[in-house]
Amino acid sequence: MPALRLDSVSLCYRLARQRPPSLKEYAIHWVKGSLTYEQLWAVRDLSLTVTKGESVGIVGRNGAGKSTLLKMVAGVLPPTRGRCAVRGSVAPILALGTGFDHELTGRENVYLNALLLGRRRREIDRSYDEIVDFAELGAFIDSPLRTYSSGMVARLGFAIATGWRPDLLILDEVMGVGDSAFTVKCEKRLEAYRAAGTTVLLVSHSAPAVENGCTRCVWIDQGRLVADGDPKEVLGAYLASLGSPAAAG
Ligand SMILES: Nc1ncnc2c1ncn2[C@@H]1O[C@H](COP(=O)(O)OP(=O)(O)O)[C@@H](O)[C@H]1O
Ligand SMILES: [Mg+2]
Repeated sequence: MPALRLDSVSLCYRLARQRPPSLKEYAIHWVKGSLTYEQLWAVRDLSLTVTKGESVGIVGRNGAGKSTLLKMVAGVLPPTRGRCAVRGSVAPILALGTGFDHELTGRENVYLNALLLGRRRREIDRSYDEIVDFAELGAFIDSPLRTYSSGMVARLGFAIATGWRPDLLILDEVMGVGDSAFTVKCEKRLEAYRAAGTTVLLVSHSAPAVENGCTRCVWIDQGRLVADGDPKEVLGAYLASLGSPAAAG
């Protein structure tokens, strides 16, 4: 079985078009079946098979459906149609800082976040020092998160999510958020995990990150797969499409 398999996956966001003024009106609309929704198919009929150990870069314009796709793989959003199967453990970093409580201390957030990622308390006890060390938080670890800079929050988020080597690592535009020294550290860890067999799905606006760090590149546009193959070739085609007037806007 592959590390990841998407079979004709589609996702539709449904937004209520009108806002009924009261619950009673809402109920009346509902009974009459006259509630109308704006439908937005963010991902359409997408199939993809990823083999264990591959590093897949996903590129596409803003609103192409990249984040929606990653959320389905992470299990955050169930597909409206189709099937999404993942083998093994998944560590998603969809947006740095999600799952944090800013009133709690860094220490408390390490436990909260790692528990949300499915870790056991004893596992967290064992990895705690290493996580704090990686995040370079020092004495700040016992201060509430609201006193942290965005860089500190980002470092802590990355340190926790990658505190254990997952079978599948999902990164949505999170590389290169800290300073350059921290970015180098993140890339090293990513490299070590890849070498140990972790499969990576990476959304990045950095062409070099995709070209140098990925074994494969997938280009999506308006929720559909446009190209899938060698990073250099797919990136070249994608970047060329951005330059042409037909693709603008
Ligand atoms: N929670 C949401 N509710 C409704 N529409 C959404 C939601 N999230 C994203 N969208 C829409 O879905 C489309 C794809 O968005 P997204 O997956 O975030 O694209 P990307 O990550 O490639 O920029 C966009 O048109 C976006 O406006
Ligand atoms: Mg996105």
